[in-house]
Amino acid sequence: MQVMTAPMAGVTDYSFRKILYEFSPDIIFTEMVDVNALKYNNHRTLDEILRRAGNEAVQIFGNKNDDFLQAVKILINKGFGHIDINLGCPMKKIVRAGKGSALLLEYEFVKNLTADIKKEYGSDITLSIKIRTGYKNFSNPEYYVNLAEEYDLYQICIHGRTQEQMYSGYADWNIIKEMKQKYKNVTIIGNGDLTNLQEIKEKTELAKPDGIMLARGLLGNPWLIKAAKDYFNTGESVEYEVSREEIKNTLIKHINYCIEDKGEIRANLDMRKHIFWYLKNLENIEKIKNDIIKIKTIRDVLKYIVDNI
Ligand SMILES: Cc1cc2nc3c(=O)[nH]c(=O)nc-3n(C[C@H](O)[C@H](O)[C@H](O)COP(=O)(O)O)c2cc1C
Repeated sequence: MQVMTAPMAGVTDYSFRKILYEFSPDIIFTEMVDVNALKYNNHRTLDEILRRAGNEAVQIFGNKNDDFLQAVKILINKGFGHIDINLGCPMKKIVRAGKGSALLLEYEFVKNLTADIKKEYGSDITLSIKIRTGYKNFSNPEYYVNLAEEYDLYQICIHGRTQEQMYSGYADWNIIKEMKQKYKNVTIIGNGDLTNLQEIKEKTELAKPDGIMLARGLLGNPWLIKAAKDYFNTGESVEYEVSREEIKNTLIKHINYCIEDKGEIRANLDMRKHIFWYLKNLENIEKIKNDIIKIKTIRDVLKYIVDNI
């Protein structure tokens, strides 16, 4: 069973990916990358989102065939070997532009795009897609599983939610189960609600996918990768007890990675959410949280964490 980490815009940046690599998942995805930004050589996209902590798979989104093809070429030249097409982003701004999950309705477009990328670059990269189970009057994930089979895609990741659900409600793992039962030769990765080992166990036992993609379960908890891998390797589900010391050390490391990568001002903005995610499971954390909120610079936050956690 493959264990991979999801693309998460604004979250799986270089510094978090460096942390994730320390837990050795099978695949780590970048944040989604706009094919247009690649085309216009947008500085932030190229230098920041695509900075490599290892052998990341890059996820791209867009709405024009040529732009996708050009982006794939640029990424190949930059040495990336696994490219994933985003057919799932539910955000209004993206969907209104006909990108992300809006592409689920564009059967022909996606089919032609897949065919073109495979034809042009099939020997240079592995290609995969990530879908949701529905968008507007699209409710036919099978079309894309079938496409994955037809074009011999490396994998298809099914997030068991519709676009309308955004990030709430339950992910429907019965759809993932049905698809896996029907398409034995397609590598199907299940995604959605894998927030702890119990969920991972139940959902994989139900659907028997070829792999899982962890997403929000990783926020403040990269140890979930290890728990999942240990479970799949041994068959025993032992919830991994993470000590306060481990959380503290990982958090300090993560902050330092982010400062090195983005500088103190950006790190101060970008790390706040991560800090609270790491701290959420510790006991007696209210005072610490309130103190951190009042501290202005990331250096002082770091010092506070060293001294108080
Ligand atoms: C903050 C955030 C950013 C995300 N960004 C992306 C993205 O760039 N590309 C993508 O395919 N999915 C993205 N997702 C969706 C996740 O990859 C995943 O499919 C979703 O969170 C469901 O898994 P979960 O219920 O375990 O969190 C994002 C999710 C979150 C919470």
